Amino acid sequence: MLSFALAILLVFTGIILFWQRWSTHVHRKKLPPGPMPLPIIGSLHLLGNLPHRALHKLSQKYGSIMSIRLGSIQSVIVSSPEAAKLFLVTHDAIFASRPNTEAAKYLSYGSKGMTLTEYGPYWRSVRKFCTLELLNVMKVKSFAGMRREEVRLMVEEMKVASMERKVVDLDEAVGALVDGMTCRMIFGKKNKDRSIFKDVLDETMELAGAFNLADYVRILAPFDLQGLTKRFKSLEKDIDEMLETLINEHEEHGLVDSQRHDEMDFIDILMSLKQQYSNTHDELSYTIDRSSMKAILLEMVAGARDTVKTSIEWILAALIKHPRVMKELQKELKTVIGDKNEVEETDLAKLTYLHMVVKETFRLYPVSPLLIPHESMEDVIVDGYYIPKKTRVIINYWAFGRDPKLWSENWEEFLPERFLAKDIDFRGADCQLIQFGMGRRGCPGMNMGLLNIGLVIANIVHCFEWELPNGMSPSDLDMNEKFGLTIPRTKPLLAIPICRT
Ligand code: HEM
Repeated sequence: MLSFALAILLVFTGIILFWQRWSTHVHRKKLPPGPMPLPIIGSLHLLGNLPHRALHKLSQKYGSIMSIRLGSIQSVIVSSPEAAKLFLVTHDAIFASRPNTEAAKYLSYGSKGMTLTEYGPYWRSVRKFCTLELLNVMKVKSFAGMRREEVRLMVEEMKVASMERKVVDLDEAVGALVDGMTCRMIFGKKNKDRSIFKDVLDETMELAGAFNLADYVRILAPFDLQGLTKRFKSLEKDIDEMLETLINEHEEHGLVDSQRHDEMDFIDILMSLKQQYSNTHDELSYTIDRSSMKAILLEMVAGARDTVKTSIEWILAALIKHPRVMKELQKELKTVIGDKNEVEETDLAKLTYLHMVVKETFRLYPVSPLLIPHESMEDVIVDGYYIPKKTRVIINYWAFGRDPKLWSENWEEFLPERFLAKDIDFRGADCQLIQFGMGRRGCPGMNMGLLNIGLVIANIVHCFEWELPNGMSPSDLDMNEKFGLTIPRTKPLLAIPICRT
C-alpha cells in the first residue's frame, strides 16, 4: 500500500515538475506575435515606402508588441504608450543599446559619437560631457544674441518678399535660418559656401536614414547591391575634409585664455576639454581624441539641424492649413507681445497656445516616427513575451497619435485645444508624447530644439499673414510625408507673406 502511494506521489511530482519546466520553457520562449517571415528577407517586403504606416497597420492585427524578422534581424515593433513604457522605462537599462550598422561605421568614425554608439562606459562618458558642456541650459542661453540676429535676418528677407508680393519657399527660408544658427553655435561661423555644407549634410541624413539591405541581410553586404557602401565611403571623406578644415582653423587661431565659456562655440569647448584633461588620468582624457571630436561635432549638427527644420516646416504647414488655429495663435501673440515687432526668447514661456500647437503637430506629424532603433543587451521577458538578447526594438511613435482610445474619435483633427484638458508632457511617465524619446537614450537636445522651434514659429506667425499662391485653398495643402531619418513633407511649402507688424 505504502509503495503504491509512493508511486502515485512520484508520478504526481513528476507531472508537476514536467509541467513547470514545460510551461517555463514555453513562457520563456514565447516571442510576441507577428507575421510569418520568408527565408532570407524575413518580412522586409512588408515595409513598403512608408514603414511607419505599414508597421502601424500590421500592429493593428498583431498587437502593440509585435515580433517581426527583418532579414536576419529579430525585431520587435512597439506601437502604444503602455508598451513603450515597458521598454523605455521599466526595462530601460536592458534596451539602452543601439544596433551596429554601416551608418555607425562610416558616419560616426566607427561609433565614436553618441547617437549610434552601443551602451557602455564610452557612450556614458560622451553623453555626460555633451549634456554638461554643450547642451546645458546656460550654454544654450549664451547663444540667444546669435539666434536673435539670425531670426531678424530671415524676417527682413520675408518683409522684402512681402513688399514685392513674392512667393517664399518656406522650406528653403527656414533651412537657411536653421543652418545659420547651427553653424554659428557649433563652428563659430556660418559656412561661406552654404551649398557645400548643405550637400554634405543632406547626403549624411539621406544615407543615415536609407534602408540599407546590408544591415539586415548580412551575407549580401559584400555585394553592395544598393551602392550605399560606395556612397558612404565617399561621404566619409567629404565629411572628414569639412570637419578637418574647421578644426584646423580653430587650432590656428588658438584658444584665447581670456575667452569666456559663454563665448565659445562647440569646437572651442571640445578643444579646451581636450587640453584640460590631456595630462590627467580622467576618463575624458582618452575619450576625446580627434576622431571622437569629429564624430560628436557631426552628430550635434545632424541632431540640431534636420529635426528642428522639419518640425518648423510641419508646424507652419499645419497652421496655414488650419486658419482658425493660426488666428488663435496670432491672438495670443497680440496679447502677450503687444506692439513689439519681434518675439523674444523670454516671451516664449507665456505663449501657452503656441506650446499646444507644437504638441499637436508632434502628435500628428512626428519628424522621427520610428525614433532611433534600440537594441536589447540581454534576454528578458516583457509583458509575458520572450525578447532575446540583441533584438532590435523599434518604437513606432507615429502610431501613438492615431489611437482613438487615447485621443478620442476626432484624433484626425488638428486641434491644439485637446491639450487644455490633457496635461501631457514630453517625457511624461505615460509615454504618450515621446517625440524626443524617453529614458537613457532620450534626446539630450530637447530643450534647445523646443527653444529654436518656438522662437522661429512665434516670429514668423507674429510678423506675417500667409497666403497660398495661385488661389490655392488652405484645405488643399498636401500633408503627405516621405520617408527618411527625419520625415519631411513631400512637397515644398510655398506661401506669400503679408506684413502684420
Ligand atoms: C525637434 C527637435 C528634435 C527632435 C524631434 C529630436 C528627436 C530625437 C529622438 C527621437 C532621439 C532618439 C531617442 C531614442 O532613441 O529613444 C534623439 C536622440 C538624440 N538627439 Fe535629438 N531631437 C531634436 C533635437 C536635437 C538637438 C537640438 C540636438 C543637439 C544639438 C539633438 C541631439 C541628439 C542626440 C545626440 C541624440 C542621441 C542620444 C543617445 O543616443 O544617447 N537632438 N533625438
